[in-house]
Amino acid sequence: MKRIGFLTSGGDCQGLNPAMRGVTETICTALGDKEVEFYGFEDGYKGLIYGKYRKMTRADFAGIQNMGGTILGTSREPFKLIQIVDPETGLDKVKEMKKTYAKLKLDCLVVLGGNGSTKTANLLSQQGLNVVSLPKTIDNDIWGTDMTFGCHTAVEIATEAIDRTRTTAASHSRTFLVEIMGHKVGWLALEAGIAGGADAILLPEIPYSVKKVAALIKKNTKAGKKYSIICVAEGAMTKEEAKMPKKERAAFYASTGTASDRLAKALAELVPNEIRCVNPGHTQRGGNPCAYDRRFATELGAAAGQLILEEKYGNMVALRGNELVPVPLEEVAGKLKYVPVDGEEVKYARALGISFAD
Ligand code: F6P
Repeated sequence: MKRIGFLTSGGDCQGLNPAMRGVTETICTALGDKEVEFYGFEDGYKGLIYGKYRKMTRADFAGIQNMGGTILGTSREPFKLIQIVDPETGLDKVKEMKKTYAKLKLDCLVVLGGNGSTKTANLLSQQGLNVVSLPKTIDNDIWGTDMTFGCHTAVEIATEAIDRTRTTAASHSRTFLVEIMGHKVGWLALEAGIAGGADAILLPEIPYSVKKVAALIKKNTKAGKKYSIICVAEGAMTKEEAKMPKKERAAFYASTGTASDRLAKALAELVPNEIRCVNPGHTQRGGNPCAYDRRFATELGAAAGQLILEEKYGNMVALRGNELVPVPLEEVAGKLKYVPVDGEEVKYARALGISFAD
């Protein structure tokens, strides 16, 4: 009998449900339904810490391959807090997670998570738990994998936001700042910006000059293009902001709104054009996964299932080229996959005439 626990942690994304189904189908196909017990922890690591779980069967995961969100619920449990014993209650979260794992006699815990969650998965693995993780996030910023599930669907939604903005921008001769998710890393903005034909793409990795954005808008106007589309990553920053100490920058941001709000305000001083902001926000993480993410997440789940059957724990399943491969959690934990500023995608975007305003 195998006992497998599941948790989905951090910001949700499209593909969590098909990924879990990929694991359960693979294990049940190999061992038979009666030879395995599944436990679903509620709301991420919280469920493991506080012992909130439900016993599940293969049937509970059936037919969820096209469902967005997560049937288990999720929450953010910051890594830096997870190791700290609560001074008021004396709660030792790591100890509690180990206790729940031992109580249920789990053979493996499957963690579907992003960067922070993978750090905790690695910590638990180092503490002796059998862990396999799957790379989820719309941000595509997990180190060690070419792609994360959720990203393709989010790119579709973000691109549609740009497309839909374009027609109204053209009708009204307005400049639109379309803000795309991605706090530290700009993959989503870069891909949607290229797909949507933005005039400029502003990324966290490439600090920008407001004056250069203004010059681009003026150039467009002069050339007879009455509207401009600027794709602004959530974490885009000006060259001046990039020089600020982190704490100072956070305080400045807290009092000045979003990246596109700040840019809109600064541009209003420099160009006569009417500026509007569009922020698709969490719709980028919402709704059902696209076919790519369904297929990709399901296959990642199948690969995780194989690792569990072979008892190859302590790994994240990653896409490298066309292959799904195990990558040790200790290699992945604590690293981010940034957009390479001199990489292929940025290079081709520049070749297309897209500005990064740098
Ligand atoms: O990690 C995914 C993500 O959507 C980021 O792009 C974004 O910065 C963040 O989560 C938003 O988090 P929350 O849902 O907690 O507001």
